Amino acid sequence: MNKTIMITGANAGIGKETARQLALKKTTEKIYLACRNEGKAEIAKKDLEEKTGRSIFEIVIIDVSKPESVKNAVRNLNDPVDALIMNAGGMGGKNPEKLTPDGVTALTATNLLGHVVLVDELIMADKLKNVALFASSEAARGVKKMGMKQPDFGTSSTDEFARVFDGSAFGKDFDAMQVYGMIKYGGTLWMSHMARTNSAIKFISVSPGGTRGTEVMNDLPFFKRIMFKYIGMPILMPLMGMSHKLSTGAKRFVDGISNEKFISGKFYASKTNKLTGALVDQNEIFSNLSNENYQDNASDAIHRFIRG
Ligand SMILES: NC(=O)c1ccc[n+]([C@@H]2O[C@H](COP(=O)([O-])OP(=O)(O)OC[C@H]3O[C@@H](n4cnc5c(N)ncnc54)[C@H](OP(=O)(O)O)[C@@H]3O)[C@@H](O)[C@H]2O)c1
Repeated sequence: MNKTIMITGANAGIGKETARQLALKKTTEKIYLACRNEGKAEIAKKDLEEKTGRSIFEIVIIDVSKPESVKNAVRNLNDPVDALIMNAGGMGGKNPEKLTPDGVTALTATNLLGHVVLVDELIMADKLKNVALFASSEAARGVKKMGMKQPDFGTSSTDEFARVFDGSAFGKDFDAMQVYGMIKYGGTLWMSHMARTNSAIKFISVSPGGTRGTEVMNDLPFFKRIMFKYIGMPILMPLMGMSHKLSTGAKRFVDGISNEKFISGKFYASKTNKLTGALVDQNEIFSNLSNENYQDNASDAIHRFIRG
C-alpha cells in the first residue's frame, strides 16, 4: 500500500495530474510535490487541494538537475516515501546541450542525473519503501512513425553511455529530440539494473505515452515548438491515433505504482509504432532493454558524474 508518495515535477503536466488522481484514492495519506520553483508549487498545491478536497500535499523543493538540491531535500524529508514517481523531465530547457557543473548536459541532468542521486540518497537514508517509477518514453526504443530512431549505441558500453550523457558523442549535431530518446533509454536500463540489485524495492519504467495538454514542448526551438505544440500534438497526433488526454497519460503512472501485474525491472509503454493504448513489456520490441551488461553499463556511466 502506497500511503506516502513523492512526485518530481508535480506542479505541471502529467506530474500534477498524477498527484490529483492519487489524492482521490482513500489510501493515499501524503503526497510530496517535489518541485524546483516554490511559487509554481504553491499555486499547484492550492489548485490540487481545491480539486480533490484533500489537504495531503506537502511541497519539497528539488531541482533534479542539481544533486546538492536533491541531497538537501532527502536530508530534510520528514517521512519515508512508499512510492517515488520520477516524472520531472522533458527537453532540457532552452540550452539542452549545455554542460552543468557535474559535466553532463542539461538534458541528462533534468531527465536522469538528479533522479539517480534521489534514488541513491533515499535508499541510503532508508526512506524509500515500496516502489520507484521512472518516467520513460517510447522514444527510448524508437518510434519510426514519428521519425524517432531506435537508440543506436554500437556496443552500449559504459564509455558510449558516458559520451551520450556529457554530449561529446554529438558535437555540433546535438538533436535534442533524438538525444532525449537515448537518455530515456539509459535511464530505463539504469532502473532495470536497480531492480536486479535491490530486490526489496520494485523499480519500473513507464511511458505516459503521447500525452496532450502538457508543457513538454515549450523549450523546443521556435519552429519545432510551433510544429509539435500547436500542430503536431493537438491536431496531427490525435488524427494519427498517436496521442491521448492528460488524464490517460497520468493514469499509466498511477497504475504503474499500484498494479501488481507490473514486474520489477521492466519497461512498460505502448505497442510497436504506437504512443497510446495498452501498456506492453518493451523488451518484446527492443531486446537491448533486457541486456544485463547494458543495464550495468548505463548505471556505471551515470555514476561517473556523481561526486561523493
Ligand atoms: N507529454 C508527453 O507526451 C510525454 C511522452 C513521453 C514521456 N514524457 C515524460 O513525462 C514526464 C512529464 O512530462 P510532461 O509532458 O508532463 O512535461 P511538462 O508539462 O513540461 O512538466 C514537466 C515538469 O517537470 C518539472 N521539471 C523540469 N525540470 C525540472 C528540474 N530540473 N527540477 C525539478 N522539476 C523539473 C517542470 O517544472 P517547471 O514548471 O518548473 O518547469 C514540470 O513540473 C517527462 O519526464 C517527459 O519526458 C512525456
